[in-house]
Amino acid sequence: MLRPLQARFRPADFPNLLVGLGAPDDAAVYRLNETQAIVQTVDFFPPVVDDPYWFGAIAAANALSDIYAMGAEPLFALNLCAFPEDLDPDIISEILRGGADKVAEAGIAIAGGHSVKDREPKYGLCVTGLMRPDGLMAKGGARVGDVLILTKPLGVGVLTTALKREAISDPAHLDAAVGNMARLNRAAARAARSAGATAATDITGFGLIGHALEMANQAGVGFEIAWDALPFLPGALDYAKQWIFPGGAETNARAARPETHFGRKLADWQEMLLFDPETSGGLLISVIPDRAKDIISQMRAAGEDAWIIGSVVASNGIFVS
Ligand code: CO
Ligand code: CO
Repeated sequence: MLRPLQARFRPADFPNLLVGLGAPDDAAVYRLNETQAIVQTVDFFPPVVDDPYWFGAIAAANALSDIYAMGAEPLFALNLCAFPEDLDPDIISEILRGGADKVAEAGIAIAGGHSVKDREPKYGLCVTGLMRPDGLMAKGGARVGDVLILTKPLGVGVLTTALKREAISDPAHLDAAVGNMARLNRAAARAARSAGATAATDITGFGLIGHALEMANQAGVGFEIAWDALPFLPGALDYAKQWIFPGGAETNARAARPETHFGRKLADWQEMLLFDPETSGGLLISVIPDRAKDIISQMRAAGEDAWIIGSVVASNGIFVS
């Protein structure tokens, strides 16, 4: 679908556009001068949870995440709203309040926005950020020998699907998933940046393997991922065993399986969890081994956590060990 755009806007004609559609990434990056580049992204989606406040907060954290995934800091944001004409104004206010609280937590302001009428509600943000051009954490920056760090546990897809099917066995499972989605990737981005990480992306709709594959392929390397090292949200393994997967997991698996190799026998539900779509997931960071522990200790100092889940190898695709 992007081919007509890629042919129309060739990277050579726009030398200050450091990241555009030439090698698609989390956000576009435009160099202003030697020390400054602006970063811009837009993201919005229909409700992922029933609570309007938390839907707003999650949508905002998700939109900000693409700024953090490039190694940038946000400057300001614009609201994007699509709401049904007959939607209770109190619900709309709650969605906007959730988004505003999250944007304020990121230390920036909502400076405007746009709204349209739509049958299904949708909310998100356009976010502008700033960074040093030499601090870019592109998807394609991974190097052989790097270690891979993940900064949020996985399993949001099965948990939100369990919610839709009214199969949640413990309300604490849902609280953990909501907290996970609403958490900013700011601490992760700062830790990665100060450790000199050269590559990162945020784990969203294509799931862990889908996004890992984008990074590996753009860098021309392979990623080895250790199943035993993967962190999962409470309840995620139980719902996966009951095969409570969203439709997107199957789609992701179909797309990525040809380039995914399994070095050990996993159960079907374990395999499928690797393709489970995330919403507002953590950063997947590629960094030299010496600096990996710096990222983990910085994350812990910020009251969060991070996990070494694998390494970058001289091959192609994803190897699950
Ligand atoms: Co992204
Ligand atoms: Co995005």
